[in-house]
Amino acid sequence: MKSAEIREAFLRFFEEQGHTRVASSSLIPGNDPTLLFTNAGMNQFKDCFLGQEKRAYTRAVSSQKCVRAGGKHNDLENVGYTARHHTFFEMLGNFSFGDYFKRDAINYAWQFLTSDKWLNLPKDKLWVTVYASDDEAYDIWTKEVGVPAERMVRIGDNKGAPYASDNFWTMGDTGPCGPCTEIFYDHGADIWGGPPGSPEEDGDRYIEIWNNVFMQFNRTADGVLHPLPAPSVDTGMGLERISAVLQHVHSNYEIDLFQSLLAACAKAIGCSNDDQPSLKVVADHIRSCGFLIADGVTPSNEGRGYVLRRIIRRACRHGNKLGAKGSFFYQIVAALVSEMGEAFPELKQQQAHIERVLKTEEEQFAKTLEQGLKILELDLVGLKGKMIPGETLFKLYDTYGFPVDLTADIARERGLSIDEAGFEREMEGQRVRARSASSFGMDYNSLVKVDSDTQFLGYAGTSGGGRIIALFQDGQAVERINEGEEGVVVLDQTPFYAESGGQVGDCGYLEGSGVRFDVRDTTKAGGAFLHHGIVAQGSLSLGAEVAAEVDANVRQATALNHSATHLLHAALRQVLGEHVQQKGSLVDSQRLRFDFSHFEAIKPEQLKALEDIVNAEVRKNSKVETEETDIETAKTKGAMALFGEKYGDNVRVLTMGGGFSVELCGGTHVSRTGDIALFKITSEGGVAAGVRRIEAVTGAAALAYLNGAEEQLKEAAVLVKGSRDNLMDKLIGLVERNRQLEKELEQLKAKAASAAGDDLSGSAVEVNGVKVLAARLDGLDGKALLALVDQLKNKLGRAVILLGGVLDDKVVLVAGVTQDLTAQLKAGELMKQAAAAVGGKGGGRPDMAQGGGVDAAALDAALALTVPFVEQGL
Ligand code: SER
Repeated sequence: MKSAEIREAFLRFFEEQGHTRVASSSLIPGNDPTLLFTNAGMNQFKDCFLGQEKRAYTRAVSSQKCVRAGGKHNDLENVGYTARHHTFFEMLGNFSFGDYFKRDAINYAWQFLTSDKWLNLPKDKLWVTVYASDDEAYDIWTKEVGVPAERMVRIGDNKGAPYASDNFWTMGDTGPCGPCTEIFYDHGADIWGGPPGSPEEDGDRYIEIWNNVFMQFNRTADGVLHPLPAPSVDTGMGLERISAVLQHVHSNYEIDLFQSLLAACAKAIGCSNDDQPSLKVVADHIRSCGFLIADGVTPSNEGRGYVLRRIIRRACRHGNKLGAKGSFFYQIVAALVSEMGEAFPELKQQQAHIERVLKTEEEQFAKTLEQGLKILELDLVGLKGKMIPGETLFKLYDTYGFPVDLTADIARERGLSIDEAGFEREMEGQRVRARSASSFGMDYNSLVKVDSDTQFLGYAGTSGGGRIIALFQDGQAVERINEGEEGVVVLDQTPFYAESGGQVGDCGYLEGSGVRFDVRDTTKAGGAFLHHGIVAQGSLSLGAEVAAEVDANVRQATALNHSATHLLHAALRQVLGEHVQQKGSLVDSQRLRFDFSHFEAIKPEQLKALEDIVNAEVRKNSKVETEETDIETAKTKGAMALFGEKYGDNVRVLTMGGGFSVELCGGTHVSRTGDIALFKITSEGGVAAGVRRIEAVTGAAALAYLNGAEEQLKEAAVLVKGSRDNLMDKLIGLVERNRQLEKELEQLKAKAASAAGDDLSGSAVEVNGVKVLAARLDGLDGKALLALVDQLKNKLGRAVILLGGVLDDKVVLVAGVTQDLTAQLKAGELMKQAAAAVGGKGGGRPDMAQGGGVDAAALDAALALTVPFVEQGL
């Protein structure tokens, strides 16, 4: 069976069991700050398990793209060296949200794997593990399904803490979790390894193919397990692993999906396509890199971008090991697209972008490598002993991306060793830093436990009211917040917009009898809206009813910018092309900022076209339409789904200009495009490889921006004694005049210098038949003095000359010695002495030297060195 057929069979089997087929979500988890990348099929359903989101179905099935690199589930270092680890893989999963539980989950899994209508796997090849204390699951397997006890293994807490077990699955440090039962496939006695739970379990003989998690708890940051509203099921089966089983190969890298990819890697690198770990690394990494870039990640030095950068560099390093010359990694994208572009159209759409990002990164890495080598050379000069210290290895690795095994090679060539243990210590320190960086601030998701979501009233207006259903202070739930104190208020309904989709949260105030809470910002945790602010008067108590008033001016100014962002997005696709994809946006009351994929600076005429198109839409003053519908209908209407956003069953489609722009958006917008009044771009620039940023203003802010520019023009006109109308002519005239004056000045200086030279030659003194001239000429630059020294040499014959002067508070010096004397007297030597005397440096050839210094007061003394220099030298 081909991988594509297995994927389809799985989805169909569970559809027949009443599951709704749900598309894979983005690799960038929507609105989940606790997760670096989507790492399991259940991620997009996290809020359903927690009871914070209700969907139209209670059973779902999906094939989810996953990345496990960085964060809790990290397989990066294993990739290439085992038969079954990947940075990117597809996870087939079935889910129950408070619907069926252990019995059905186990029976479905068994039926799909062993029934001759489906995968038809031999039952005696399958082993099953359960969580040690889960008798219920054990009994279902042994008594109902009939798995013999000798192929059943109980696994307890084998990771050093309660509930830390291979058979207790947790999404991350916080979130849904529960005991699990795993199904293993025995690849046969000719492969090394032992059954799960045995000392040889890490071998490749027994491979886990399917994990069934019985979701029962929500783990909060304090480590406490809180029961979920309803027991649920989350399962996951790696498509690559099950394909290996069904295609009768042992390694995932031998399945159909990898064959053409490995061949393409070998071709791009120029090596043979045999069973080498490095080639597998490259084939694995092109998948994670391609998919991550298609989902909007770009290489950078922090967060997701940093993990991407590390994967790319690891791929490059392994390519280099195999002898790759120059950039090769980007060349494999085409093979990835032809293998997987059918199932994942985003790859096809983004192919050119992915290639460019990878190529740029590879080129940059090549330079980095060069720089790293130089740094290493410098460090080796000061090396004490015979071992390169861990800090040096780490600095090279971390700052310059310089692989440690390359450093080891160089060390070997010079009879040195490397401090690997020291390097590991530094790496561990970095891992700790990375872990703490990945928790991205306070996770209110784990704190907020409210029975129902906050209902948003703000599409209709900016006033409303609600009941306080939760209060928080310093990350703790409280019953009351007193006057003068800061805190977070959750209401059952509110007109306040909570930050999402790039639009900032609303500000304003909440008011009850004798109490007022100033809201500075509004954010979301699951379905709850959090009003952040300070109690200005009285005290707030749980259960109280309050009126809610959003600052309507700020909201309206923000709406103008948000609506203009949509128009700009559509205009960008018209002017630059369909490859333009939103990579991020920030919309507040002052301005809008829009990041998008495009590979070169936008030309001035393109910027003008963008403004013209947007402003034409504004002038049409068409009605802004919103419609609630399901995601599939929205997509058929051509709605653009946005990067990093998570969409539920019901989506809001926002249409402007009668279809000019159609986007999925939950933000607050203007009612007619004419409300935007005016759109003006204020800047354009690059933010990362392949990503550009436009900033713009609208409405009153756009007018203020243009008025400011107008004011500057007027001031400039006054300065050049002209008017707005003839300003350009005046400026052109001034620039031209300036150029002429500079030229004249040059000529005059040359003339003056020549005249000075005539005068000066008279003041030379004779020392043993040599003419010695030392003179001060302030205000001349080095060039003029050089010309003068040349001229004087011609005039004086056998001569030694030192000229010096002060220019812009600095001393300029030029020395000259005629050719016939340079054997005894060197201009460079004289210059060294003279420059040192004025606190500076100088040097040059025996016949001509230049220098300078900072001590103008010592200039005369420096010039006076000339005669003694000649006397001593002759
Ligand atoms: N979430 C579980 C896992 O990732 C089952 O899908 O293994």
